[in-house]
Amino acid sequence: MATIVPPLNSATLAALANDARSAAEKAYAPYSRFHVGAALLCADGRIFTAANVENVSYGLSLCAEANVIAAAAVAGNRQTAAIAVTGYRAADPQTPVLAMPCGRCRQILAEFATAETLIHVVPFPADRGTAKTMTMAELLPFSFGAEALG
Ligand code: THU
Repeated sequence: MATIVPPLNSATLAALANDARSAAEKAYAPYSRFHVGAALLCADGRIFTAANVENVSYGLSLCAEANVIAAAAVAGNRQTAAIAVTGYRAADPQTPVLAMPCGRCRQILAEFATAETLIHVVPFPADRGTAKTMTMAELLPFSFGAEALG
């Protein structure tokens, strides 16, 4: 069955960005007070959202991107068309920050991505700051991939 790739126009990306912003508001981040939200657009058009979930041990905290990849994967996703990520400091939500995916999340995102999958990192206040949009290959160049396993 052919995969239907949703049109990745600016309206689609803007809607995905807003889904990520809503998800960030649901973060459980009492320790860092840094809220991260992610919205993942599957190649079949479905959208999943998640946020970071921290832990009192700090080191066991779960990133938003890893959580959204897991949510989509268990619902059957195997190909990500785009993902929007946003973050804000709970103490200062009006100051835009770009929540760039951490190194671990980059590898996790790559699992169900192609080189062309769009990574849309957006400021939390929609009307402030500048988004950074890049491909998966730009976010994680020279990545470890399945081809290495033969
Ligand atoms: N965090 C994410 O959710 N994604 C990232 O890619 C980087 C960091 C979370 C983890 C922790 O709850 C908070 O942001 C501060 O590091």
